[in-house]
Amino acid sequence: MSATRDKKGWSAGLEQSDPVLLRKALVSDVGPLARLINGYARQGIMLPRSEFELAEGVRDFTVAVCGGQIAGCGALHFYGTTVGEVRSLAVQPSWKQQGLGRQIAQAIETEARQHGLCSLFAFTYVPGFFQKLGFHEVGRDALPSKVWKDCMGCPKFQCCDEIAVRKLLIGPHSRDGITPMGGEPGTDDSVVVPVPMVRKEAF
Ligand SMILES: CC(C)(COP(=O)(O)OP(=O)(O)OC[C@H]1O[C@@H](n2cnc3c(N)ncnc32)[C@H](O)[C@@H]1OP(=O)(O)O)[C@@H](O)C(=O)NCCC(=O)NCCS
Repeated sequence: MSATRDKKGWSAGLEQSDPVLLRKALVSDVGPLARLINGYARQGIMLPRSEFELAEGVRDFTVAVCGGQIAGCGALHFYGTTVGEVRSLAVQPSWKQQGLGRQIAQAIETEARQHGLCSLFAFTYVPGFFQKLGFHEVGRDALPSKVWKDCMGCPKFQCCDEIAVRKLLIGPHSRDGITPMGGEPGTDDSVVVPVPMVRKEAF
């Protein structure tokens, strides 16, 4: 899968002729993925990921590669058979604002549709980016409670200030993003898991 070059062209010191390839990640990508994600984690804008965790979930990842370097990444994580999360979406600083984040997110959405998922969600500090891609801000109670099980290991569990965004992929409201009542179709929301508290100053 080749990425199309944005009208603004690529920077980062690479030749214009260098093609950008979007592909599924390999275990050999784990080191560069850790450096990219944890660079942003040190700034407090992404969750840190150990190399062990990344290797465990490496098949979730799509990477954008140019000139042999990883220019960006993102992951699709499944919650049951109908809901997916866009995780660990990151573009190298020198590649930002050139359409790469959009292309990675779209590749993840295509993958989610191929799997027949009903919706995709993300927790993010950049809701404006996701809104450009058709996501809408939702209340945390709109997401399946399974989601919070993963949050329990997070250092920000009791002071989470990320914004939940969701895009419906199928169903009558998938185009306009209107939130249906209740949980996602086919999900088992019977498990009671505490929902993280949101810091007051986030609003
Ligand atoms: C967020 C991120 C992935 C965006 O990647 P990118 O390659 O710079 O984004 P794109 O160039 O594809 O932008 C697509 C659209 O979103 C907009 N956009 C990009 N970043 C944005 C932001 N922070 N806020 C609002 N809109 C944004 C762009 O202007 C563009 O809009 P346009 O189509 O109208 O021109 C990138 O900035 C990044 O890696 N940030 C640090 C890590 C992070 O916050 N990841 C998100 C974790 S959920």
